[in-house]
Order: sequence, then C-alpha cells, then structure tokens
Amino acid sequence: MKRNRWICGVLWLALCALALGGCQGAERTGKSAVVVGFSQLGSESGWRIGNTASMEQAAKAHGFGLMLENANQKQEKQIAAIRSFISYRVDVIAFSPIVETGWTNVLNEARDAGIPVILTDRMIDAEDDDLYTAYIGADFLAEGLRAGEYLIRKADDMGAEHLNIVEITGTEDSTPMRDRQVGFLQAIAGDGRFTILESISGDFLRSKGEECMRYLLEKYGAEGIDVVYSHNVAMTLGALDVLEAAGVRPGQDIILISVDGEQAAVDALREGRINCIVECTPDLGETVMTMVEALVKGEEIPKEIQPEETVFTEFDDLTGLAPRGY
Ligand code: AHR
Repeated sequence: MKRNRWICGVLWLALCALALGGCQGAERTGKSAVVVGFSQLGSESGWRIGNTASMEQAAKAHGFGLMLENANQKQEKQIAAIRSFISYRVDVIAFSPIVETGWTNVLNEARDAGIPVILTDRMIDAEDDDLYTAYIGADFLAEGLRAGEYLIRKADDMGAEHLNIVEITGTEDSTPMRDRQVGFLQAIAGDGRFTILESISGDFLRSKGEECMRYLLEKYGAEGIDVVYSHNVAMTLGALDVLEAAGVRPGQDIILISVDGEQAAVDALREGRINCIVECTPDLGETVMTMVEALVKGEEIPKEIQPEETVFTEFDDLTGLAPRGY
C-alpha cells in the first residue's frame, strides 16, 4: 500500500514537471531547493524573449529551480499555470499578467496556500493589494510622459504649428497599454499643436503593427499623418516596413516614437528611421530572484520596485550606448 502511494507520488511529480515544461534543476527533496513558478504571458516581442531569458539566467545564478510556463497570450493558460504551481507547492509564484483584471480567484487560492506572489512587469487591478506580495516592473506612466515630452521638444525644434498623431497601442486592458497612453496624453494635454487622429490596438505584435499601419495609411494618407506613437518596438518595426514599402521615409516624413529599446530599434534610431525610443527594460530577473531569496528567508520586501529607465532620441549622442542585449 505504502509502496503504491510512493509510486503514485513519483508519477505525479514527473507528470507535473512535464506539464510545466520542466522544472530546471529543481528537485523537491526535503527543504533544500527553492522552486519558483513563473508564468510568462507569451513571446510576442524581442522584449518578452529578453525578459524570459533574464528570469531564467537569474534563477540559475541564485541556484533556484524555475518552473517556467509560457501562456502564449492566453489569460486562462496563466491561471492554469498558477494553479499548477499551487498544487506543486512552489516557494514563490511570479507572473506577468497579460491583462489587469480577472485574477482575484486564483490569487486568493495562492494566498490560502500561503504562497507569496510577485507580479513581474505588469500590474493587476486589485481592490485588495494583499492579493500579491510585490510588483517588480516599469513605471509605464512615466514612459508615456517621456514619449510626450520628446514630441513637445521635437515640435518646438521644427517650429511646427500643428501635428496629427496616430497611436498604435499595446494589448487592451494591459498596464503598459493603459499607462503609456495616459502618460502621453498628460504630457501633450493643453498643447493645441497636437491632434490624435486615432488610437488602435496592435496587441504588441509586429504583424498587427503592420496591419494597423496599413489601415492608418489607407485611411489618412501619408500626408495626413505627422506622428506615429507606437507602444512597443515589435509593432514599430512592423509599421516601419509598411511605411518604407509605401515610399514614406519614417524619421523624416513621419515622426516615429516607440517604447522598449531593443537593439533593432536603436539601430533604426541611429539610421534616422526612428526619432525617439522610450526605454523599457526587460532585465527584471535579478531583482525578482533577489526578492525571492529575501522572501524564503522570511524577510519583508518592498511592495513596489521599479527599474531606472531613460529615453533615447535623435537629439542625443548615442555613440557610447552599449549593445542592448535583446
Ligand atoms: O509589458 C511590457 C511590454 O510587453 C513591452 O513593451 C512589450 O514589448 C511587451 O510585449
């Protein structure tokens, strides 16, 4: 009887590890190994791939097992992954919420199981902020403000009287989409030189960035658009392809403002094909794992940690800028 139970237990753990795509280096033998369950929301951009790599490298450096589950842009898959982490009784759950709402039940389950939850990269809309232990990610509102501040400087520099803007936003109901939009609007509010013609969602995907740009070009014509504000580099690169194929010179005929800072975008900025990139760093792994370490030692950690970020523009000398690594 005991032997059967032991075999069942071993099989269950093996299945769990397989279903979760492998628990790298983590064996739950006694209390020795710390295991972190990480639900990544997808692999929609170079930024996201860099973010996953940062989590993997940091977990390895700290000697933690990492149960990594990629949700391929589906909230229900993230919820299922978090439930698996709870069943496995990981030490800490980290996850990047694809959208802000719909997490209350699963986070209550994690709380009832006594497992701390770190939100990485994106926030949730929670009435009860005891549902998570900490948020580690960017200040997206500040990113939007930086984009708007650049545009004001650019308009001053050009002596522009009026500029028509189109906005290609990220995933609806996600924190970066909402706050990058609000911050940008706040920065340009009250300045009569700017009109936002339209905001449409490109879901942070290059293919949708292309689709959005094609639609906007058809609707307003290249002469009707002065500025494209795109919420991430993947969509910006898609938009760039469409503009160039249509004979438009992005960076000159149309001002291009983007967020993220992948190497491809910095290269395009240096070539004069993008005017401004607001930095958003994907390198959150080390901070997350340092906080995991503190939590497993029973220490208190800050409720919110935001990395320092900057902005790269056509007005800056970028010769000393180190390779971005993503
Ligand atoms: O949440 C951060 C955003 O998500 C990044 O700007 C974008 O590239 C990613 O898809």
